[in-house]
Amino acid sequence: MCGIVGYIGKKDCVSFLIEGLKRVEYRGYDSAGIVVLDESSSSIHIKKSVGKIIDLEKKIDNRDIGNLGLAHTRWATHGEPSMENSHPHISNNKKIYLVHNGIIENYISLQKRLEAKGYKFYSETDTEILVNLIESYYTDDIELAVKKALFDVKGTYGIGVLHVDEPDKLIVARLGSPLLIGIGENENYFASDPASVISKTDDVVYLDDKEIGVIYKDRVVHKNLEDEIITKNIEKIDIDVQEIEKDGYEHFMLKEIFQQPRTLIDTMRGRIILDEGTTNLGGLRQHPQVYNALIKAEKIYIIACGTSWHSALIGEYMIEEYAKIPVEVEYASEFRYRDPIISEKTVVIAISQSGETADTLAALKEAKRKGAYTIGLCNVVGSTISKVTDAGVYLHAGPEIGVASTKAFTSQVMALALITVDIARHKDMSFREGYKIVKEMKLLPTLINSILDNSMVVKDIALKFKDAKNFLYLGRGFNFPVALEGALKLKEISYIHAEGYPAAEMKHGPIALIDKDMPVIFIAIKDAIYDKVITNMKEVKARNGVIITIASYGDEEIESISDYVIKIPDTTNLLMPILTVIPLQLLAYYIAVEKGFNVDMPRNLAKSVTVE
Ligand code: M6R
Repeated sequence: MCGIVGYIGKKDCVSFLIEGLKRVEYRGYDSAGIVVLDESSSSIHIKKSVGKIIDLEKKIDNRDIGNLGLAHTRWATHGEPSMENSHPHISNNKKIYLVHNGIIENYISLQKRLEAKGYKFYSETDTEILVNLIESYYTDDIELAVKKALFDVKGTYGIGVLHVDEPDKLIVARLGSPLLIGIGENENYFASDPASVISKTDDVVYLDDKEIGVIYKDRVVHKNLEDEIITKNIEKIDIDVQEIEKDGYEHFMLKEIFQQPRTLIDTMRGRIILDEGTTNLGGLRQHPQVYNALIKAEKIYIIACGTSWHSALIGEYMIEEYAKIPVEVEYASEFRYRDPIISEKTVVIAISQSGETADTLAALKEAKRKGAYTIGLCNVVGSTISKVTDAGVYLHAGPEIGVASTKAFTSQVMALALITVDIARHKDMSFREGYKIVKEMKLLPTLINSILDNSMVVKDIALKFKDAKNFLYLGRGFNFPVALEGALKLKEISYIHAEGYPAAEMKHGPIALIDKDMPVIFIAIKDAIYDKVITNMKEVKARNGVIITIASYGDEEIESISDYVIKIPDTTNLLMPILTVIPLQLLAYYIAVEKGFNVDMPRNLAKSVTVE
């Protein structure tokens, strides 16, 4: 979603700000803007553009220089993508510039209050209200004015503020939207994403909610909203720059699909105890109270959105079957408003790649408020969800840049399997069974490589079906959520309508759609319910449906019922989704590429959905 970058120092910062914005381009945006102030000449330069950062760059000329500045990519919420609505926003007296991520929920009442004082508004945004609210409190101290304004605000914000009369400092603050300060030598930076500052420094301070940073060239003062000075730790950014490059791949999504053998090794690293047939997750065991609550839980809720919700469904199947604890999977956006029943025997697991998803965060806060122990499964280290949960498991999949989640999904499923084995081994799971599962885990990277080696089979199928208007994805058991995930991937990046269903559910409605123009993708691997899936396939064939099947190596029977077959190796049932999803990721990718779409930045989508 929106991205923020800022700089204060002695050098011209335009190229740093633009580069910083490009580093978060993948998060999704529809307009961009920059403001820089040249302290020596007191001249201010602001440029905005609707569309891509490259269009903004074209508007910048060699007169646009400055040694402090703010930049922003906007994902439209209040008002369409337009010059007026894009950031930075300017106060009526043209002295204060503001970039903002988040939503000011009470902006209408604030607007009325300001209009009564004579303020005029030129955009449809909540951000323009905030910048003028700050102006309304300003006498001669921008830090004080920001603090006073933030006391009036309801909602979420990550902000950067510049006042032309106080060019020695920039002010930043956060509530619910990520913000970090990068520490340099005689220059400092800030951003909503560490990727924006990594080219300059790996020393950063993460702001917590209701904190303010006053950033000078040579120091940073941290305060809370009550104006008390606070001490913050400098942390190291845990990103390898190569991780945020395409590395020779045509798209980040393709790179991330092909990275999965390695990212799964990273998710498993140090967490498997083969000779005890179990797993060890430090992020859980270091919190004995939470760990014990999990093992003894009478109920587990898993809350998530999108792809993470699909991995949560797989987690439900795993935990119920092996650890024997009832699990309920909820869309985070629903959980929050539905008054779920939570007791001290309930544990809530939140799954989020980004760790910043507003719906998941809000649901988590509700769960905490009701007294549940909370566990986070996040990929982004230091993200808000990873911080607000009582314990957690990092995925260690590395930065996921493609908007369509791939490697985070398989790492989420792996993390859930690791948790399942850990709990189950405290219960009825035998050493033999635990050993079998963890041994299979270790084989997965090699098995995925064998699927990736056959990616051309999937590409050929993609070429044949790229013009289809609808797809149906069907699977059963552990592979039902994979059917949902395959359909979501296709929708997201190729804009083809696709639905996922449990295969048996097809006859209760979707079967009406089956004809020769409806490709139906079956996940029909040789497991306990294989024969049932074959029956469902025959029902489709009887109605002239076209069948593409993800099947097990060595399954000859499947060829006669399918029009196209993608063969994959087998593993134990709870890990199977990690294999069956790979061809579906590839299929979505190749179809989108064939259709000429921007795979890494699909229309309307944002990588990290920080608004409700
Ligand atoms: O960062 P999160 O895992 O919390 O994100 C949740 C969804 O927004 C996300 O999975 C979304 O559905 C992806 N675009 C899926 O590819």
